[in-house]
Amino acid sequence: MPKVVIPYKPQPRQEVYHQTEADEILYGGAAGGGKSEATIWDALKYAMQYPGSRQIIFRRTHPDLQRSIVTRTLQVYPKELGKYNASKHEWVFVNGSVIELAYWDNDANYKNYQGAEYDVIRWEELTQFEEKWYTYMFSRLRGSKPYPRSVKSTTNPGGVGHTWVKKRFVSLGPPETVYHVTETDDEGNTLYWPDGTPQAGKPIIRSRIFIPANVHDNQALVQSDPGYLARLLALPDIERKQLLEGDWDVFAGQYFSEFSRAVHVVEPFEIPRDWKKYRALDEGYTDPFVCLWIALAPDGTGYLYRELVQTKLLTSQQVELVRLNSPVTERYDYNVADTSFWNKAKTENITPAEIFAQKDVPLIQAKKERVNGWKRLREWLHVEDAIDHVTGSSYKTAKLKIFSTCIKAIEAIPAMMHDERNVEDAAAHPLDHVPDALRYWVMSQPTPGKGEGAWSADPESLLDKPKTFEDDEDDDQPQVEGFW
Ligand SMILES: Nc1ncnc2c1ncn2[C@@H]1O[C@H](COP(=O)(O)OP(=O)(O)O)[C@@H](O)[C@H]1O
Ligand SMILES: [Mg+2]
Repeated sequence: MPKVVIPYKPQPRQEVYHQTEADEILYGGAAGGGKSEATIWDALKYAMQYPGSRQIIFRRTHPDLQRSIVTRTLQVYPKELGKYNASKHEWVFVNGSVIELAYWDNDANYKNYQGAEYDVIRWEELTQFEEKWYTYMFSRLRGSKPYPRSVKSTTNPGGVGHTWVKKRFVSLGPPETVYHVTETDDEGNTLYWPDGTPQAGKPIIRSRIFIPANVHDNQALVQSDPGYLARLLALPDIERKQLLEGDWDVFAGQYFSEFSRAVHVVEPFEIPRDWKKYRALDEGYTDPFVCLWIALAPDGTGYLYRELVQTKLLTSQQVELVRLNSPVTERYDYNVADTSFWNKAKTENITPAEIFAQKDVPLIQAKKERVNGWKRLREWLHVEDAIDHVTGSSYKTAKLKIFSTCIKAIEAIPAMMHDERNVEDAAAHPLDHVPDALRYWVMSQPTPGKGEGAWSADPESLLDKPKTFEDDEDDDQPQVEGFW
């Protein structure tokens, strides 16, 4: 074969992507990081290395596919190595390997892949797809040759699939680390390999890794088009954070757009004995039962320091678990709870609130008005500049901090969306039980920062948003005033 020079030199982060091995790899983050370029060369290299292999690259729509992958591969793939068949949308290489270029834009697409087999499946702009399409295609990841099989995807943050992609890859923990994850169905039940497979009966465990991409990784682009960075900088806030910084904690429609890991999440520390402590509870059986433990520092900063989130607990089990998670050395000012703890089940003549009280966890009723509650929570999360009096440098802070061990809260708060019908409100969300409990707690407290510390609210925002602790706009439950 004549010598063919590949017109691509991977940059360092692209090199990491090419060399990483895992069942599922996501290369994701800023736009322009060189992700798509890395994909097409990664695919070509695999095709050459494994004769007769078969790969597929998906985009969400036909025009997107045509404009990006088809055009680019036609421009740069050396013609000596293979030919593009435009009617079949596939590259066929001299060694018998194939790369299909495809799009997947609706549910009817399953049928196109019923008999198909691939060694590598690649999703471009993964957050544009639905998770069920992505997981369905695992069943097509097979073949007669002993080649390494994987699903490799790239994406920017944002898009309809932002939340599932973030959860599947980004929220696993620090990036560039391989995690072995047991596959579960929608209800969290473990999935097992089916009969007839080599590992029949064993749980399905796949390795996953997230490789973050940054525009600055792509020096080729920054140097050839310096205006590119300036154009990203000029984007509106959310898009700029997603496309320039590759930030996964923001997305369009996000309710608590002020949430930031760097500001709100702190490493756990021992809560001093004399800080005030509280518990906040949300009812649930099929939905999870939630208990949050919150401490108030003398400077008025609230710390969510422990969480309990669990489904299918009887009331007696809920109270036992709350007690088990509450060291005897901790004293609580009060326990504020969803008013549904005062509803009697048909077959019972005692309310959950009474059961809790009998076990030494007396509850008080939460103020449930949603919009006011969310506004109050937003004040606690509000990001402010502060000065470090030792170094003189400025930093960002907020009045509510969350221990890094409270993973459900850290997942749920940035996932809340605006309700399209009532944008002041947050839309119902499968994860909203933790924010609900947090809302009950903030509504049981006066305006944030009434402690002894130096925090002061922006006076203007206080003027146009009077902190009426009493207004009940959409209560559906009787309210009990005062604490007992
Ligand atoms: N290793 C590289 N060498 C030279 N140019 C590159 C390299 N990687 C990417 N580029 C160029 O940088 C630009 C952005 O890359 P692209 O892969 O489209 O980014 P992303 O998919 O992350 O948004 C494209 O013009 C691409 O050709
Ligand atoms: Mg791209």
